[in-house]
Amino acid sequence: MASDEQFYSKHPSIPEHSGKYKTIVYIICTIAALGGLLFGLDQGFIANALDTIKTDYHLDTSQAENYSAVLATGGVLGALLSGLLARYFGRKKSLIFAGFVFTAGSLISAMLPPIAILELCRFGLGLGVGIASFVVPLYLSETAPAKIRGSMGTLFQLMITIGIFLISLTNVFIAKMITNSQHALPIMFLVIGLFAIVMFIGTFALPESPRWLMLKGKKDKALKVLHKTMNTQAEIDLEIKEIEYTLASSAKEKFSASILFKGYFLKVIIVGVLLQMFQQLVGINVMIYYAPEIFGYAGMKGLVAMMTVPTVNMLFTFPAIYLVEKWGRKKLLYVGAICMFITMVAAGLAFLTIAKGADPATIGSGSKLVLLLAVIVYIFGFAVSWGPVAWLVCSEIFPLKVREVGITITTMVNWTFAGLLMGYSLTFMEQFGTSSLLFLFSFFCILAVAFVYLFVPETKGITLEEIELNLAKGVKLKDVGNARK
Ligand code: BGC
Repeated sequence: MASDEQFYSKHPSIPEHSGKYKTIVYIICTIAALGGLLFGLDQGFIANALDTIKTDYHLDTSQAENYSAVLATGGVLGALLSGLLARYFGRKKSLIFAGFVFTAGSLISAMLPPIAILELCRFGLGLGVGIASFVVPLYLSETAPAKIRGSMGTLFQLMITIGIFLISLTNVFIAKMITNSQHALPIMFLVIGLFAIVMFIGTFALPESPRWLMLKGKKDKALKVLHKTMNTQAEIDLEIKEIEYTLASSAKEKFSASILFKGYFLKVIIVGVLLQMFQQLVGINVMIYYAPEIFGYAGMKGLVAMMTVPTVNMLFTFPAIYLVEKWGRKKLLYVGAICMFITMVAAGLAFLTIAKGADPATIGSGSKLVLLLAVIVYIFGFAVSWGPVAWLVCSEIFPLKVREVGITITTMVNWTFAGLLMGYSLTFMEQFGTSSLLFLFSFFCILAVAFVYLFVPETKGITLEEIELNLAKGVKLKDVGNARK
């Protein structure tokens, strides 16, 4: 591929940059990332609202579990549809649609309709979350300049964690202040509705992704967007050339479907699928949902028990934004998986010393301390690494022509495993004990480290087009993120 070298020798991979980005870039990314906020609001809603829902709708535990889990089912379908939506209607319209679904789902829920409709709404919210979890990282990675692509991509996760934090907090307060649950529940839903409306309206102001515009042959429009987001003509030229070059190289494929059967696509899809699978198999959502119970074992109840996990989760996503560009993706994945491994083993051992149904007063202070520290360090480990990086890498590794298919599949895998874990963890714990589940999570952490070492490429600071060219050239998967020699 002599022409590749010619092209790149004329155009250094990432232009010299003043280090300043137009404010509009941050505004665009923030509005788009509101999709992440809604993801978090809906995901985190259950932890501190389920009791109120159970009271209002007279649900038993399994009905309440069904209500919670239907979000994941909607998420899988949303992810599936979003690939088609994003490809045929564009990234922007898909975000608008997600904003609409979020708004409708939460406002109808706030009217406290019959349970079947309420469940349908949660399914609809899941659909929105599925679409957002696909389109937001894709949009951010395609619209943000390469040097801050990682940080902007991480913004998605930050918004998820802010959403989980916010809704946990507001739900606790609403439940405390409004004792009549019939009055409290609509307000809980209206909090989500408020942000949904902001997202819905805000997305109309977003520009379309320049890469999608180019894919559809709308170069003029792509140029207009780049003029808005980039500082200099040189940067615009380079960006356009890189996109054109990638499109021209992949235009040789008659049907984009044919690329699906190329060895390198299969390789990256396996990386994406395993990344998302491990992101769930390390047990994050089980920890988020059941942390108050674990804190309860340690004799801690109330606000501290309900707010510690969402707070740690949100706070430690901030350093990730910076570290993902400084240390790179892989180092963070190692650090996170090792932290989670150690803490799961420690918590598992602590649980072995606690008899089932034990009175917290009889539990030794050593075990309590280990449990508390383990939960906090575990959440830190996830927040700083696998939370943001799994989504980020999945938005970076797929060739443009099949990016939607790739992200669709990996997002569906994320939601499928999220649903499976949420649906079966309690039963597993009842049958085999809490320790066994925690040890199982720690085992997955070890597998995750081996997987990152063997297969995951470092994608820090390299353009999406370079990654794609390296893949097509047959560069080893682990090395496709290394800059050209
Ligand atoms: C995961 C969610 C999880 C959240 C916690 C996301 O990256 O995909 O399943 O609830 O992080 O912050």
